[in-house]
Amino acid sequence: MNHEVVEKNLGLMIPLIVVAISFGVLVEVVPLFFTKEVTTPVKGLKPLNALQLEGRDIYIREGCTVCHTQMIRPFRAETERYGHYSVAGESVYEHPFLWGSKRTGPDLARVGEKYSDAWHRAHLYDPRDVVPESNMPAFPWLFTTKVDPSKTAAKLNALSKVGVPYTQEDIDGAAEMVEGKYEIEALVAYLQQLGTAIKR
Ligand code: HEC
Repeated sequence: MNHEVVEKNLGLMIPLIVVAISFGVLVEVVPLFFTKEVTTPVKGLKPLNALQLEGRDIYIREGCTVCHTQMIRPFRAETERYGHYSVAGESVYEHPFLWGSKRTGPDLARVGEKYSDAWHRAHLYDPRDVVPESNMPAFPWLFTTKVDPSKTAAKLNALSKVGVPYTQEDIDGAAEMVEGKYEIEALVAYLQQLGTAIKR
């Protein structure tokens, strides 16, 4: 009976819905901001250097996230294949997260140091050269395109504003670090650090 009163009165129903949802946010979301595991970086986690950061942007630009997740779930089948499951403290410097949800290819959360730089270069130039059955696209243009250093310092600066602990020295030296580097060098530098804060 009382419920019918609410259902027939939008002026009452809307505020009550807002109250109900706000309560949900309070209980589910607000505690996350105070949970240490979520806000504290794991031991040994370092912010990406300027070259790795440019590599990350190339990773996003080329759509690697469309086929690759960076999120090892805490299941035996996953940890046996990829290594230690992903923990929140590994992602505190990630803006935005690249956890993903589609695995056409394998998870890359711990691919760092799994292969040599030379393997990655050969694989990205043409995946079929090293994995004959691969259906991953080739990315040959990364070998002839240079990283644009004009925005690198601004990128580090922006990330420092949202809590990534870059020093003024990091920001000042950012453009110089990527100057003259090919995109493939930046991308491989990025891949080689993935997941290395927690060893396999
Ligand atoms: C269309 C889907 C697709 C896209 C896009 C894609 N990949 Fe892949 N990737 C795969 C598949 C499938 C495999 C497994 C076969 C192989 O090793 O080539 C793979 C394998 C890999 C591996 C080896 C992983 C391991 O543990 O053996 C790396 C590293 C990798 N990809 C990096 C990248 C990067 C970097 C990009 C973006 C520049 C990218 N991939 C884009 C499908 C994709």
